Amino acid sequence: MKSVNIGGVTIPGNVALSPMAGVSHVFFRGICREQGASYAPTELVSARSIRYNGLGKSMQYLRIDPEKEGITAIQLFGADPDDFTAAIEKIMEDPLLSKVDIIDINMGCPVPKVVKTGAGSALINEPSKAASIVTACKKALEGLPKKVPVTVKTRIGFNAGDSGRPDLAKALADAGCDMLCVHGRTRPQMYSGLCDRKAIRLMKEAIKGYDIPFFANGDVTDGESALSLIRETGADGIMIGRAARGNPWIFAEVNACLEGREIPPEPSEQERKQMLIREIEGRCRYCDEDIAVREFRSVMPFYVKGIKGAAKLKVRLCSALTVNEIKEILEL
Ligand SMILES: Cc1cc2nc3c(=O)[nH]c(=O)nc-3n(C[C@H](O)[C@H](O)[C@H](O)COP(=O)(O)O)c2cc1C
Repeated sequence: MKSVNIGGVTIPGNVALSPMAGVSHVFFRGICREQGASYAPTELVSARSIRYNGLGKSMQYLRIDPEKEGITAIQLFGADPDDFTAAIEKIMEDPLLSKVDIIDINMGCPVPKVVKTGAGSALINEPSKAASIVTACKKALEGLPKKVPVTVKTRIGFNAGDSGRPDLAKALADAGCDMLCVHGRTRPQMYSGLCDRKAIRLMKEAIKGYDIPFFANGDVTDGESALSLIRETGADGIMIGRAARGNPWIFAEVNACLEGREIPPEPSEQERKQMLIREIEGRCRYCDEDIAVREFRSVMPFYVKGIKGAAKLKVRLCSALTVNEIKEILEL
């Protein structure tokens, strides 16, 4: 695997799990690493909430497991540089969270609730504000015993029809951003339509003169699409989102393809069902079973996709209340 240096932190490969709310649970991130993901940031967590409410409520999303995950990264969102400063201070005071290797800033979230506060993809339209957030994070991380780089994940534009924001990429790099990841869709596209690889490339080329890695993101579903995304954008690495839900094996497949090795066989139906159980049992270690099962409802359908009788299984799984019930439904 091709390792990537992110601001002094070496990640062991160039295929990462893209952060996903409700999906990127700490236990799942560990599973993805086993399958070859180079690293996997947490889902987005509000810097403002950490600032004013402390780590408590956010801990379920912030939790990292350096032993299982290898390189760890926490993704924060917000609009006010002071919120990031305060949030990072609190993170770095915590015995577990202070072990984090990378702080990632979300500048791509298209959800109106986030955008209307000036956070997420709203920052695409405000390159100087976006840069000031990077500067604040870098400053808050100065003087620690270890260097913690700051990365940004964003999109190719805020408005429909935007085809890349090289000005944003440059502003972020000038502010000291240690890695940039760009999803090839605009904010109004959410997750629909095709990824614009030319627009991703434009942003990659904008920071050519800076010695920072660039990741591309969007629509990778297998080895071939990973290979072509890297080729067409010139990216140093990729992040895989939706296709990894219920399918952590995708990392082994993509790594094999990128390295020109034979693609490993697809997991059997039994292996898929067993991995589903492994993930829910793992999630149950972190909260009450009923909560874990309820949260897992959005993920379970992906594990049984393609399995005989999947439609009926999905309906039944989504009304299950306990792990034992899930096992019965899956006949395990
Ligand atoms: C359910 C879901 C939750 C997501 N949550 C986040 C998030 O917390 N932070 C983030 O940067 N992107 C988030 N994304 C965007 C993905 O990380 C990724 O950029 C997007 O899905 C495109 O990549 P893909 O085509 O490989 O899925 C989310 C996407 C989905 C589908």
